[in-house]
Amino acid sequence: MLVSAKEMLQKAREGKYAVGQFNINNLEWTKAVLLTAEEMKSPVILGVSEGAGKYMTGFGTVAAMVKAMIQELNITVPVALHLDHGTYDGCYKCIKAGFSSIMFDGSHYPIAENVEKTTELVHVAHKLGLSIEAEVGSIGGEEDGVVGMGECADPNECKMIADLGVDMLAAGIGNIHGKYPANWPGLSFETLAAVNEKVGDMPLVLHGGTGIPEDMIKKAISLGVAKINVNTECQLSFAAATREYIEAGKDQQGKGYDPRKLLAPGFEAIKATVREKIELFGSANKA
Ligand code: 13P
Repeated sequence: MLVSAKEMLQKAREGKYAVGQFNINNLEWTKAVLLTAEEMKSPVILGVSEGAGKYMTGFGTVAAMVKAMIQELNITVPVALHLDHGTYDGCYKCIKAGFSSIMFDGSHYPIAENVEKTTELVHVAHKLGLSIEAEVGSIGGEEDGVVGMGECADPNECKMIADLGVDMLAAGIGNIHGKYPANWPGLSFETLAAVNEKVGDMPLVLHGGTGIPEDMIKKAISLGVAKINVNTECQLSFAAATREYIEAGKDQQGKGYDPRKLLAPGFEAIKATVREKIELFGSANKA
């Protein structure tokens, strides 16, 4: 069922677990995430960056594919289709395309402009039953052209944005998109605790879920994180499994070049990664 992310995240926050947002790139990714969530009876969020949306020929294609796949695969767990790091225009495009959730990333604007644009989008999203995520501070590194310096969020600014009625809040706490460098100092739990204290029971979002050690994930959940975004880790698993298949020459044996065979190991690898994350985040059997 395609639903807003509001209820699943409130339940997660209350139950002290997190729902995974897994970014999708194509049919294989979408199918792998949906089937794994269903097998594990876990709510799930499909994340779509603006770059991935463009790659899949537009948000309309993505929404139509996801809705049809939920039906054809008999997916019964709650699924939110969510725009990841959306621009102001991107948010309107996804609302029009039939997404059930959006993220407006106004973190690079001065706070007053972030507040102004977020206020407008909260109003529009809620009128139509969509959930909305906002961001304060920034996520380090680069994802699909969105570059952040990784500043930790100001807890007072987080409160300002949370008070606008967003359904989930991404606060930069030293997290980075992509692989973490060897000298990464770790998450700033001091910032997270301060933000959590200011924003009441607002579900917090941890971006850059790839490569964060298990103990840090668990501590973040204990401090109010109810949504964790994972993108790069599925890409790495897919690439490694595909490489292994080709390096073993399997694409040249029989009809091993058939895309349904060629992409199968990568598909299974994405499923395994998603399974591992759902277990770690604690959302299995919470659908
Ligand atoms: P990773 O690519 O580091 O897993 O981050 C995903 C993310 O935060 C999507 O917004």
